[in-house]
Amino acid sequence: MSSSGRFITFEGIDGAGKSSHIEPLAGWLRQRGHELVLTREPGGTELAESLRELVLHQPMDALTEALLVFAARRDHLVRQIEPALARGAVVLCDRYTDASFAYQGGGRGFDLAVLSTLEAWVQQGRQPDLTLWFDLPAATAAARRGAARAPDRFEAQDEAFFERVRAGYARRAAHDPQRFVRIDAGGERAAVWAQVLAALQSRAW
Ligand code: TMP
Repeated sequence: MSSSGRFITFEGIDGAGKSSHIEPLAGWLRQRGHELVLTREPGGTELAESLRELVLHQPMDALTEALLVFAARRDHLVRQIEPALARGAVVLCDRYTDASFAYQGGGRGFDLAVLSTLEAWVQQGRQPDLTLWFDLPAATAAARRGAARAPDRFEAQDEAFFERVRAGYARRAAHDPQRFVRIDAGGERAAVWAQVLAALQSRAW
């Protein structure tokens, strides 16, 4: 897959605060003349958004869950991400395959070898150019999430689940240190934003 754009993903456990930095980063990049595409997983296309509803709210076993997140990813990649990268856009994506390794692999304990097979089939080598991993302890994230609305199937999980998810992210980051930048998401918003900008500036983007 050839492309001239940039693919940046945002990862972290629920409540890490990653999503609130996507719009500001898009604004910062637009000012530098880039075309921006903001999207998310599971989701980003009509089909993938339909699958998202199922994954977040319907009871299912771990294999079904893994197949659905990768099915959603395939549609999203082929119909949204690849065309955007091919025309030179910067794609900011709220979660991607690292979330499958963290949530399905770490959180659910699902077979990592099966996930690697799905990753190879679905992505044909497409990996993000940069992954911003918003890291903080599960207890801090839980306090931030609060109890404002009815939790989905993931938000309803206990602290031990989210510590396993966090460990799943740490493993992925250790395997791909060039691509990952760990953001300490436990501090004030301004301190987190400074780390996001530093990650971009260090790559001269
Ligand atoms: P969001 O709340 O950040 O939009 O993400 C939706 C939920 O889906 C979140 O709890 C993580 C979960 N998820 C997976 O379990 N596997 C995946 O591959 C992706 C992309 C998300």
